[in-house]
Amino acid sequence: MVEEILRVEGISKSFGAIKALSDVSLILHKGELLAIIGDNGAGKSTLLKIIAGVYSPDSGKIFLEKKEVKFKSPMDARKAGIEMVFQDFMLCPDLNVTQNVFLGREIVSGEFLNYKLMKKILKEKLKDLKFDIPSIEKKVRFLSGGQQQMVAILRTLMFDPKVLLLDEPTANLSAGASEQVMNFVKQLIKTKMIGGIYVAHDLNAIIRYSDRILVMRSGRIIAEKMPEETNPVELVRLMRL
Ligand SMILES: Nc1ncnc2c1ncn2[C@@H]1O[C@H](COP(=O)(O)OP(=O)(O)OP(=O)(O)O)[C@@H](O)[C@H]1O
Ligand SMILES: [Mg+2]
Repeated sequence: MVEEILRVEGISKSFGAIKALSDVSLILHKGELLAIIGDNGAGKSTLLKIIAGVYSPDSGKIFLEKKEVKFKSPMDARKAGIEMVFQDFMLCPDLNVTQNVFLGREIVSGEFLNYKLMKKILKEKLKDLKFDIPSIEKKVRFLSGGQQQMVAILRTLMFDPKVLLLDEPTANLSAGASEQVMNFVKQLIKTKMIGGIYVAHDLNAIIRYSDRILVMRSGRIIAEKMPEETNPVELVRLMRL
C-alpha cells in the first residue's frame, strides 16, 4: 500500500454561515479502503461530494494520481475516474437494471439507444466482477434493498473508476446484505487496485472492513486510527469529544 491515488489538501467549504469543512487533508492509496466516520453533520458527505465534483471547495486542492484536478461537475469527476455512490441510491425504480446502470451514459448507435449492446457489455462486466444479480431486465423497484444497492455500485463500475466513493452504502440494509455489499467492495478494491472511501456509522463493520479510519468532527479530521488498534468505544469517544 504505497502508491497514492488521491490526495486532498486543505479543503474548506461553507454553506452560508455554516462551516461544513475546515482545512481537510487526506491521502488515499491504491488498493486501500479508507473509512470516514463522524456524527451527523460532521461534514462527511460534503467532503465526498467535493471530491466527486458535486460541490466546488472554497479553498484547497485535489490531486488524482498526483495531478491537480478541478471539477466543475460530477460528470467531470466521472470522466477523470472518480465515481460516487450517494447516500440515497438515486436509481430510477421504473427502469430496469440495465437502464439504470447506463443512465446518463447510454450507448447510442446512430439515432437509437443500443440496448442490445448495453446488455452485452453489462453481462460481460458482471462476469468479470463475479457479480450476481437476478435479472438485468428486471425493474429496479422489484429488487431488494441490498440488490438495489449493488445496482447503484455496479453503475459506478462500468467505466473502470480509479476512485470509488461510497456514502453510507449499507445504511438501509439487513446485516446479511450489508456483509455481501462490503465483501464485494473490499474484494473489488483489492483486485482492481482502486482507491475506496467509505462513510458509515456501523463501527464494528468499519473495523472489520476498512484499512484505515479517519474520524471527523465539526468539519475537521481529528484523528486517524488503524482498525486493528482501535475499538468502537474509542471511536465513539473520538467522534464525541
Ligand atoms: N447543500 C447544503 N446547504 C446548506 N448546508 C449544508 C448543505 N450540505 C450540508 N450542509 C451542512 O453542512 C454540514 C455538514 O453536512 P454533511 O451532510 O456533510 O454531514 P454528514 O457528516 O454527511 O452527516 P450525516 O452523518 O448526517 O450524513 C451540516 O451542518 C449540514 O447541515
Ligand atoms: Mg452524510
